[in-house]
Parts: sequence; C-alpha cells; structure tokens
Amino acid sequence: MTCPDRLPDPLARAIADPKSYADMDSLHQTFAVIRRDHSFARAELPDYAPFWAACKFDDIQSIARQNDVFLSGLGALTPRASAVDLPDQGFRSIVAMNPPDHGKYRVLTQGWLAPKNIRKLEANMRALARRYVERMADAGGELDFVREIAVHYPLLVVMAILGVPDEDEPMMLRLTQEYFGNADEDLTRRGARTPEEIRLGLRETIAEVSAYFRQITEDRRREPADDLASVIANARIDGELMPELDSLGYYITIAFAGHDTTSSSVAGGLWALAERPDQLAKVKADPSLIPGLVEESIRWTTPVQQFTRVAARDADVRGQTVRKGEQVALCFPSGNRDEEIYEDPFEFRVDRSPLRHVAFGYGAHQCLGMHLARMEMTIFWEELLPRLQRVELAGPPRRTVTNFVGGPKTLPVRIEMT
Ligand code: HEM
Repeated sequence: MTCPDRLPDPLARAIADPKSYADMDSLHQTFAVIRRDHSFARAELPDYAPFWAACKFDDIQSIARQNDVFLSGLGALTPRASAVDLPDQGFRSIVAMNPPDHGKYRVLTQGWLAPKNIRKLEANMRALARRYVERMADAGGELDFVREIAVHYPLLVVMAILGVPDEDEPMMLRLTQEYFGNADEDLTRRGARTPEEIRLGLRETIAEVSAYFRQITEDRRREPADDLASVIANARIDGELMPELDSLGYYITIAFAGHDTTSSSVAGGLWALAERPDQLAKVKADPSLIPGLVEESIRWTTPVQQFTRVAARDADVRGQTVRKGEQVALCFPSGNRDEEIYEDPFEFRVDRSPLRHVAFGYGAHQCLGMHLARMEMTIFWEELLPRLQRVELAGPPRRTVTNFVGGPKTLPVRIEMT
C-alpha cells in the first residue's frame, strides 16, 4: 500500500476556509501550487474530517462522472462542529441525491429547462435586461454593479420561471444572501456571528423560505399554471405526489442556486472587462463573440467554489486510494485554471476557443439550469454592449466570504453609456 500524498496544512486550510475565497487571486496562486506539486492529495486538518482535494480538471470530471462510486450528499467542506449541515436542513435537494432517486427527480424539470422550452422566455428576459440596462444609464456615471444590477436581474428571471410574483424579490434576495452568505458577516441573518447565532439564523431562514414555498405548492395544486412551480408541485415520484421535503428542496435549489451563480458570473464578466478595455472593444466590435464572453466569464468567475463527494467504496484516483467513506472536494475554480487544459489560463479572453470548463460541474449532476444561465447572460450583454462605451473600476471590488456559492459582493464601476 502506498502512503497517500499529504497536502501541507496551509494549502488544505486555503481550500476549506471560506475566508480564502474573498481573496481569489491569492487562492488561485495556492491552487496553482497544488496542481503543480500535489495533483491529487489528502488533507488532514484538526477541525475537518480528512478530505481529498481534486484540483485538476481531468480529476474533477472523472470523479463527477462516477456518481455510483463518488456519492453526493454534502455541499461544501464544513468544519466538524459546523452551523451548516446540508443533510440536516429540513429539506432534501436534488444536488444531494444519488441513484436511483436522483434520475427520477432530475427528469422532472429537465425538459422544462431544455433550450427548446426556455426559448419562449426570451421576450420577457429581454424586457427585464433592458430595464436594468436603462437603470445603468440612469445611474449618473457611477454605480455598484453587483448591488444595483447583477443581483436583481437573474433573480427576477428565476422568479418568473418559478412563477412567483416580482414584489417578493427583496425577500427572496435577502433569504438567498442569508443562506449562501452564512460565513460572511455582512450577509448573515441579523448580522449573526457566533456558530450558535448562525445556526439559529439559518434555521429561521429555511423555515421562512419553506413556509413561502409550502403556500406555492398549495396554490399550484389548486390551480396549475405554465411555470416550474406547477411542475414541481404536481410531480409524481413512483406514482405518488412528491414528498414535501423534496419539493421544498427543489424550489429552494432552483431559486437560490439559480440566481446567485448567474449574478456572480455577470459581475465577474464586467469586472474582467473593466480591467481589459481591449477585450471590451473586441466584443463590442464583433457581437458574435458574446457567447464566448459569457462562457469565459463563467470559467473566469466559477461561482460554485466546491462540491464534495463521499466514496461509496475504495476507489483509485491518480494511483492513490480514496478509502470508503472519505470525502473528496471538487475544486472547480482550480480545474478552470488548469495549465494542462488552457493556454494562458490566467488570461481573460472573449475569443477563447475551444472553451471547456467545469463551472457547471460534470456528469449526472451537471447544472440543470446551464442553458437558462447562458441565455440570460447572453441577452443581458446583447442589450448592454451597444450602449456601454467605457467601464472602469471606481474602487476595489469585494468578494463574498464563502467556500460554496458566491463571487463579487460589490463592484464599484464608472461607466459611460449612450
Ligand atoms: C452561471 C450560472 C450557474 C453555475 C455556474 C451553476 C453551477 C452548478 C454546478 C457546479 C452544479 C453541480 C453540482 C454538483 O456537481 O454536485 C449545479 C447544479 C444545479 N444547478 Fe446550477 N449553476 C448555474 C445556474 C443555474 C440556474 C440558472 C439554475 C436554475 C434553473 C440552476 C439549477 C441547478 C440545479 C437544479 C442543479 C442540480 C442538478 C443535479 O443535482 O442534478 N443552476 N449548478
């Protein structure tokens, strides 16, 4: 038996600690060292269960592909005595399911979220995008792009597909931020700081969101509409209506995961363009590059920082044995800068081609909303770019403290619009 490659503690700590993700440049340097010196290694930190770090693009894909060996169930890495415990949240999300359940739940919304079906949403999305571009033009030359634009537009899109009213947007925004921002003192419920306060806050957040969606289920069962909430509320699993625990999980996953990710990717894209006028000029001159801008923004930002898997049996990865029951962290931002996959991975290029990335995950759990995310981002840029003459940073942007889902938290920009 070979001894597992042990990841030095400071490198392991950087992967696990939500605070490192607030300084992505330095975390990317750490990932580069891990990819070069360790590839696939085992971390042993006193406050975490031992975990393996998958930092190479090919390892992430290969582990995610083997969903009968590497099981889903947990979200990001959490300390042993954590306030955040995905399986103990009062709902069951599709991201945490495994065969045979996972396929039965996934197929329920796959058709609804397929490119052919979501095309019918285009006119509405474009009207929303225009409203936010107009707001940028009205901002008087300077604005916080995250707070004023990026967090709202994708949330309103997701609320429209779920079929919940626009006026609930501020509440939904607060609940998402409290949920994903539970490690960020700026975002926790009532500014919770201690693990006990955070745990209590999270429970309250989940209770509030559950009560909201319980009502939606009742409404849509009584009166189904042409929206995703009606699909979920009336879905049958093995002939029975979906248990409440699962329908709540479904709504919450779509509402929460569906917008924070897209907001971060749009904001990450504008941040990159603000620092690279040549790339802005290129895509403005040739709008056929917009899909490239969208995909590069998603790779560049990688808003889902990690998902973990647990080995169902002993399994080999890069010649090392992951023991049954051990965790593996899929480090998506690292895979998306892998020097073996990308030419100049640390350059942002709107015409990067071909462009593969693991920001949407891979295999059985690959993002169900990826076509929607691409479409809403494309429409936003199609509306913004013809009017955006110049953009530059008006101050240092800040990123969310999270090892799970997040990205730019503030993005002060100076803009010139026609
Ligand atoms: C740029 C935007 C987005 C990114 C980067 C992203 C990223 C991801 C990733 C990495 C996963 C895989 C998790 C895993 O492997 O365990 C995932 C799953 C998922 N995403 Fe997204 N997502 C985005 C937008 C959306 C949108 C708009 C929706 C809303 C419809 C959505 C709904 C879902 C759902 C339901 C799953 C679970 C799929 C499953 O477990 O089978 N996502 N997403």
